[in-house]
Amino acid sequence: MKRIFSGVQPTGNLHLGNYLGAIKNFVALQDDYDCIYCVVDMHAITMWQDPAALRANTREVAAAYLAAGIDPKRCIIFNQSQVGAHAQLAWIFNCVARLGWLNRMTQFKDKAGKNREKASVGLYAYPNLMAADILAYKATHVPVGEDQKQHLELARDIAQKFNNDFGVELFPILEPLILGPAARVMSLRDGSKKMSKSEPSDMSRINMTDEADDIAKKIRKATSDPDLLPGPEALDEGGAVSEEARRARPEAYNLLGIYAALADKPVGDVMTEFAGTQFSRFKAALTDLAVATLGPMGREMKRLTEDPASVDAVLRDGAERARAIAEPVMREVYDTVGFLRP
Ligand code: TYM
Repeated sequence: MKRIFSGVQPTGNLHLGNYLGAIKNFVALQDDYDCIYCVVDMHAITMWQDPAALRANTREVAAAYLAAGIDPKRCIIFNQSQVGAHAQLAWIFNCVARLGWLNRMTQFKDKAGKNREKASVGLYAYPNLMAADILAYKATHVPVGEDQKQHLELARDIAQKFNNDFGVELFPILEPLILGPAARVMSLRDGSKKMSKSEPSDMSRINMTDEADDIAKKIRKATSDPDLLPGPEALDEGGAVSEEARRARPEAYNLLGIYAALADKPVGDVMTEFAGTQFSRFKAALTDLAVATLGPMGREMKRLTEDPASVDAVLRDGAERARAIAEPVMREVYDTVGFLRP
């Protein structure tokens, strides 16, 4: 069976973008793939994390995986730092990737901001660790939100350069899976900005653990525009929202995409349903749908995080199974590079 790898950082404030752009797809893919879902704690520390908060957030991401419906028997759920192969392969990839490639990464530029000199070396080398995550298991398919596309292109380049440099076919060519109508969920306050864990205003995002009242308030106050909702005639020939349409009404298409993803419907069907209605009516329907989906999941996350021993047991078992897959790959890599090993 084809293998999937993906990960989420335990940096707090898991939100609707993480759910719709990634975790919801992880759940759907477990029927057809051999899946490894990681809590990437080593990526998290590329920016300073309070140790107690890191532990709690690691368990919270694992709880989100479980509450969303990922089956820890069929899939592997674990935290990155428990499997040494990630750090080992990342170092080798630090020696394969070129500075010029990393200099083009827009996420580093965004996260480091003006204070580039003060950013950690880990933040800069972050995409190499991401490539190692995937390739330590020779995974071929990687479900992510749209913001990770550039990192995955780099991971492909690293795999190809490694294979070329050593004249081997060790690493497969991986494919991003950017799925569904909410691969890029935008802030509820500003349709030009991505919904993000680090945005200071909590009103900009719906958190996976938000209560019904908060969800309702955030959707009611979400920025919209003065027009009525567009009908399906606004879609392009392929039934998709064109970039031009999105640019003209970013908030409207963001909310429509969220609705479509939550309802598991094509965005065109949602536009047919709500064509010509007022935002107030649409927002009420969106609130009901979001509360119905996120409410039970948030409650299950809270229940699980109150029982850390059960979450830790899942992570321990997952790490053991992950190690069993990564170790033979690492032996092959060490032999290829010329490292003597026990
Ligand atoms: P992270 O933790 O920032 O986000 C986790 C997943 O959520 C997606 N996502 C979104 N999707 C739609 N709309 C949004 N506003 C939104 N915000 C976040 C992300 O695309 C991601 O899929 N580098 C990764 C973690 C990682 C990883 C990997 C992923 C580490 N190693 C290997 C895949 C394979 C990250 O920071 O995700």
